[in-house]
Amino acid sequence: MRKLTCMIDLHLHLDGAISMESARQLAKLQDIPIPETDEALNALLTVSPDCKDLNEFLEKFAFPCSLLQTREGLENAAFNLCTELIAQGVMYAEIRFAPQKSCDRKLTQREAIVAVLAGVKRSGLPCGLILCCMRDANNQAENRETVELCGEYLGKGVCALDLAGAEALFPTADFEDLFVEARRRGIPFTIHAGEADGPKSVQCALDFGAVRIGHGVRAAEDESLMERLAAEKIPLELCPTSNLNTAIYADLSGFPLRKFMERGILVTVNTDDPSIEGTTIAREYELLIRQFGLSGDEVRQLLRNSVEASFAPDALKEKMREKIEAEFAE
Ligand code: ADE
Ligand code: ZN
Repeated sequence: MRKLTCMIDLHLHLDGAISMESARQLAKLQDIPIPETDEALNALLTVSPDCKDLNEFLEKFAFPCSLLQTREGLENAAFNLCTELIAQGVMYAEIRFAPQKSCDRKLTQREAIVAVLAGVKRSGLPCGLILCCMRDANNQAENRETVELCGEYLGKGVCALDLAGAEALFPTADFEDLFVEARRRGIPFTIHAGEADGPKSVQCALDFGAVRIGHGVRAAEDESLMERLAAEKIPLELCPTSNLNTAIYADLSGFPLRKFMERGILVTVNTDDPSIEGTTIAREYELLIRQFGLSGDEVRQLLRNSVEASFAPDALKEKMREKIEAEFAE
């Protein structure tokens, strides 16, 4: 694929996107010990090839999260990531993070959000922030606070709410209260669903009122659910390499991209956790082009889908549509 400068990533976790250079800078700034060799640092940051499932995958987040416990750590992490995305040809991103995971030391969730917003703004990348609630056992108060803050910062750099974490251990159905409250406050939300758990998790997320689904690949196991996704025009945030790393698929031959496209489901291509996965958005497109023989028109359609699925304001969406059409007219 020739280098595009109109790429979009709608599903990208800040703590899963700390590059080696960024990790070194953040560690130095905050006096945190870090491995000297790139090889050792890379091993700490990236998932092992024999990772058996999402639960094991999520253990990789301990180290990057330890770098995100201060204002300057968060601000610089967000700035570095956005700067790297611009260099890669990303014109718009929705970066997500769980503010409660940055409260291990002194920070409050609000301070964490403000710091990330400052880093994004300093970079100049058009970007919306998605705040994640976490699937966990004893964090109801923290999740409620995330919803409240999401409402407060909505339209001020924050664009939506999400639910992330171990889907197989903490089923979507247990989190209804959060999304009742999000709806009451007029907050749009996406939910990680149909990744480590099956189609019923996606069904549940739709019943809660999710306007997008993170991953959603397991919906491919249920024809009527796919019909519903198409009829309700609910975009799926697909992250192919992530699904390989969490062992949902052994290889991309089983990845349901064409199945979803044939049924008229709005699919988008994203990275999830580029540093932990060892990928970039350009690489995700390349993998899909190679595996499914996507044509230029199909790649353009996937990019158009990302614009329509995004939480960007209308004027920005229009600018993005124009940029895609201009790049593909060349
Ligand atoms: N947090 C980071 N990556 C995730 C994933 N793939 N699923 C759930 N939570 C996550
Ligand atoms: Zn994710």
